[in-house]
Amino acid sequence: MPTARYVEPAFLALERERVFRRAWLCAGPARHLRVPGDYVTFDASGEALVLWRDTDGALRAFHNTCRHRGTRLLEGPTGHVKAIRCPYHDWKYALDGRLRHIPGQDGFDGRIDRASLSLLPVRAAEWAGQLWVTLSDTAPPLLDTLGTLVDELRPYRLEEMRPIQEVTWTESLNWKAVLDNATESYHLPFVHGGSVDRHVSERPEFTTYGDHYRLTLAIANTGWRRSLDSLTARGGPYTERQRAALHKYVLFPNFLMNVLPYHLTVFVVWPTAVDQCRFFYGFYEREGARGLEWLRARATWLASRWILHEDFWILNRFQRGVASGRSPSHHYHAQEVALAHFHAVLSRWIGSDPA
Ligand code: FES
Ligand SMILES: [Fe+2]
Repeated sequence: MPTARYVEPAFLALERERVFRRAWLCAGPARHLRVPGDYVTFDASGEALVLWRDTDGALRAFHNTCRHRGTRLLEGPTGHVKAIRCPYHDWKYALDGRLRHIPGQDGFDGRIDRASLSLLPVRAAEWAGQLWVTLSDTAPPLLDTLGTLVDELRPYRLEEMRPIQEVTWTESLNWKAVLDNATESYHLPFVHGGSVDRHVSERPEFTTYGDHYRLTLAIANTGWRRSLDSLTARGGPYTERQRAALHKYVLFPNFLMNVLPYHLTVFVVWPTAVDQCRFFYGFYEREGARGLEWLRARATWLASRWILHEDFWILNRFQRGVASGRSPSHHYHAQEVALAHFHAVLSRWIGSDPA
């Protein structure tokens, strides 16, 4: 796998055009759209979108731009409106996107056809407590791309998860480096020797769902751990494995989640430059968590923040190395199998050979 993928602006341009403009992308937690008129704005890799709940409860998504002269309609990140009103010349739109009112319409001398100037729609979906959009008209429906993953995740009832922390920040890293690192266990003894590695007891198991994939890590497979598991496993019914092991799912291209019955971690990584990304981190516990379950979620969150700190330390060193180094390609260990899969999928989307 060529190192150039982490440093070449031309490769990022291809990723933007052939991956981010075609794939389903996570637009954030669905809980922000509770009642009709609730909205969230979203930047889909340079494309300003807005999603809201229509009066009939349906999820709608549009380009966040007025049909008169293109002004940004709504400012985010979240808000509530009864109808959409452009602040520039007061064009008004209904929540279904139809243009309802043009002040002084006579001034257009009959050259305006209101029916053809609805807001520009974008395909959207709601799943697993998240909002999803795609800029593609031809991408298969989101659930079709997920396959059996949908049934597998159902017991976790991810829509019940409530944030302990949600935060976004910028890192001087190629966006792929973050996902690479989060899906390989080869570095654990060396980067997390004092923290997570002590608890990982076997080689991870790797599964694919089309372009998406899962990595399962059994953690501290001891007797006390199993009794704790049964006390902190609301939701379900879970398989023994779902209760005991950490399941990491990557939804291609840029969404990763770690799931266990009592917690959920979400990473979403957006390229902002070839050597810079915007990183969303969300850590969640199940609504109504109390006692041991509450404690376990909080303790896992603190551990997660520490592990992330260790990861970003090494990742910054990785990016500096690839940016100024001469090593032309990467080589994958068996514990880096997820990276090989990810880059093969990426190559297929881009339409280029990995070599
Ligand atoms: S740009 Fe929106 S009304 Fe003029
Ligand atoms: Fe790590």
